[in-house]
Amino acid sequence: MCGIVGYIGDKKAVEFLLEGLTKLEYRGYDSAGIAVNCGVNIFVEKAVGRLDALKEKLKNREPEGTVGIGHTRWATHGRPSDLNAHPHTDCTGKFVVVHNGIIENYMSLKEDLISRGHKFISETDTEVVPHLLEEVYKGDFIGAVREVLNKIEGSYSLVFMSKDNPETLICAKQDNPLVVGLGKGENFIASDIPAIISKTRDTYILNDGEIAIVKKDSVKIINRRGEDVQKKVFRVTWNAEAAEKGGYEHFMLKEIHEQPKAVRDTMSERVLKDGSAIVMEELHWDKNFLDSINKIYIVACGTAYHAGLVGKFYIEKLARKLVEVDLASEYRYRDPIVDEKTLVIVISQSGETSDTLAALKESKRLGAKTLAVTNVVGSSIAREADQVVYTWAGPEIAVASTKAYTTQLILMFMLALYMAQIQKTVSPERTRELIELLKKIPAQISETLSDVDPIKTFARQYGFNEDVFYIGRSLDYDVALEGALKLKEISYIHAEAYASGELKHGTLALIVEGVPVIALATQKSVYEKTLSNIKEVKARDAVVIGIAAAGDTELEKYLDHVIFVPETDELLIPLLTVVPLQLLAYYAAITRGCDVDKPRNLAKSVTVE
Ligand code: AGP
Repeated sequence: MCGIVGYIGDKKAVEFLLEGLTKLEYRGYDSAGIAVNCGVNIFVEKAVGRLDALKEKLKNREPEGTVGIGHTRWATHGRPSDLNAHPHTDCTGKFVVVHNGIIENYMSLKEDLISRGHKFISETDTEVVPHLLEEVYKGDFIGAVREVLNKIEGSYSLVFMSKDNPETLICAKQDNPLVVGLGKGENFIASDIPAIISKTRDTYILNDGEIAIVKKDSVKIINRRGEDVQKKVFRVTWNAEAAEKGGYEHFMLKEIHEQPKAVRDTMSERVLKDGSAIVMEELHWDKNFLDSINKIYIVACGTAYHAGLVGKFYIEKLARKLVEVDLASEYRYRDPIVDEKTLVIVISQSGETSDTLAALKESKRLGAKTLAVTNVVGSSIAREADQVVYTWAGPEIAVASTKAYTTQLILMFMLALYMAQIQKTVSPERTRELIELLKKIPAQISETLSDVDPIKTFARQYGFNEDVFYIGRSLDYDVALEGALKLKEISYIHAEAYASGELKHGTLALIVEGVPVIALATQKSVYEKTLSNIKEVKARDAVVIGIAAAGDTELEKYLDHVIFVPETDELLIPLLTVVPLQLLAYYAAITRGCDVDKPRNLAKSVTVE
């Protein structure tokens, strides 16, 4: 979503602002702008489109000031345009603000301000904020900001700048991420760590309700009542290169190839060295806790939702607990049947997805116990949940989620086995057997990644089709859903995943000569049924590419092509079958000349509804 940066120090602010916004481009945006306090006035420049458009406008007229803020906007209220781009100012130009999130009561505030003579130039919700500041400011910058925050409702990360207070930037955080980077004689502000990591590793991660008063040689944190808040410095451990492409053409390809390491890292401290058990130090669950739970919800969006479907299968199969999986955007408005006997597990790579965060808050309001599975330490969802377990995938920059998905799967598998151990629903022998197979997964993912040529060929051959179908049963169907989403979101091909047993109930009408069908057939328990579904589509002259476990000599008799993945337990094979589907989507997008890392209309973290 939107990206925010701020600088206060002795150097030209515009240098860090542009560098920081560039590092945040991956978040997806449609316009950008900066503001720099130049003493006599606040210089503001904005441009719709990519950052280059803004840089073009700044050519030979870069401001000299050493205090500034910047923003990349993903339109929510008001179409992408120069006027709707941030920063936004009040009538006088003395107050300037950048914002990420939604001011939910902006219409009533705007009407009231207009009735008091304020002039608005944009269609955004954000613009009410600087006008409110103008309205209440009587010389006390911090007090005025606090007063403004008491008037606005909704979610925000805000940075305020005032012409008459050039020594101070004020940040406020509610439901959207904001960090302060601690420098020497200078300080940095950003909505995400990659923007500041090349400048400092020491940060304050703001919590909801906190306000940071940032000067060049001090950072003070207060709460909304103005009381001091003691913050611990959060030291960022991963290096800047991790957020670079590391030699790959795109972040997505880099992250697909990082999966063996990401899965290994996520497993590392959670498998006892002797292979006898899974440990979850973060949870300390026991039989009493699990006996107190009579229902589990898994709630998420997009790829995380697809991981939740696999997680459901794992928990029901191994821990014999009833699980319902729901889309966060549906769950939060469904008046779900939740009480203190419900465990709600939310899955979110970014830990900032608005719908998932809202579903989590609703679950807590209804009395549920909550667990977050997320990839971002200190994210809003991580801090909101009662307990959190982290995937250790490292930063995922590409909009299309890949290593986050496989690490979510491995974490859900370990969670299910951990629960099974506590409830003794899986024998110690079976536990050891599964852990032995688990330990082999990273190497098996590497093996799957070692031969991408057939997949490149298929992508070139079928990458110009406008319709592709993915079919499978049981866990294969869950992975088919993820494969279809990957293809859709980065190659813009209309891809549809279907439970193969459902084809005859309608979709088979769309299967005509030459249409590509990706058939997953790894689940032994439903293999024969899947085979007959494959014959159904072959009989209609579809082109069928199978995804099968090594050693399956039956399948290739009926298919045009087969991609084999290493053999493992059918519970774990989704970690392998998803890899060729990720690669197929990637190479199809390359074939079609798409912007792989920043696909149209999409953003990495959907922090607004
Ligand atoms: C996945 O490739 C998409 N980028 C998108 O569906 C994503 O998974 C979804 O927005 C959820 O994001 P989260 O995991 O950060 O909550």
